[in-house]
Amino acid sequence: MKLLVTGGAGFIGSAVVRQAIERGHSVVNLDALTYAACLENVESVANSPLYAFEQADICDREALDRIFDTHQPDAVMHLAAESHVDRSIDGPGAFVQTNVTGTYTLLEAARAYWQGSGKPVGFRFHHISTDEVYGSLGPTGQFTEDTPYDPRSPYSASKAASDHLVRAWGETYGLPIVLTNCSNNYGPY
Ligand SMILES: NC(=O)c1ccc[n+]([C@@H]2O[C@H](COP(=O)([O-])OP(=O)(O)OC[C@H]3O[C@@H](n4cnc5c(N)ncnc54)[C@H](O)[C@@H]3O)[C@@H](O)[C@H]2O)c1
Repeated sequence: MKLLVTGGAGFIGSAVVRQAIERGHSVVNLDALTYAACLENVESVANSPLYAFEQADICDREALDRIFDTHQPDAVMHLAAESHVDRSIDGPGAFVQTNVTGTYTLLEAARAYWQGSGKPVGFRFHHISTDEVYGSLGPTGQFTEDTPYDPRSPYSASKAASDHLVRAWGETYGLPIVLTNCSNNYGPY
């Protein structure tokens, strides 16, 4: 399977890229290389014939169209984001731009590619979101997929907005979407 991974030079994305290649998948790593990127995290797979890197911004529709056209991915895993809550309080604009406008632009590029390829049934657009769209838990309890949205920072509001866009593209255009809301990730790198 060929995966288009956005944000593959970031913390989680680079782990996805390494593991996907270890499992024998082809990966196109699409990343703008912001302050958060660290290409050293994918150095171990950078020379693999299964790996390709594209430096691009998910707000750049022309670049996205070229990348879809060149690489013809079977699925998209969308991790690229402005991801730090504290930075979103100091400067929310970049979060709206990348997380909302960027996700919209990627959805439109993916939809055009999927439709243009005859709507392959196996195609998936996997949007990686956060549990922070559900607000804060007390000392106990858990969120479920039915928990009402209650974002409390510019970061989580921008991720909530992107979740709504992804669901809308699924409902309105039939784009085969998967949406996951993970909690905090930690580990090496
Ligand atoms: N880290 C966590 O604990 C956590 C928890 C829940 C959800 N998430 C979500 O998982 C995803 C990955 O998180 P992370 O911690 O790896 O983030 P990160 O900040 O480490 O990496 C983000 C990557 O996206 C790239 N990027 C940023 N803006 C871009 C743009 N406009 N175009 C293309 N690339 C761009 C950056 O260069 C960077 O490589 C995010 O969507 C985040 O919201 C993270």
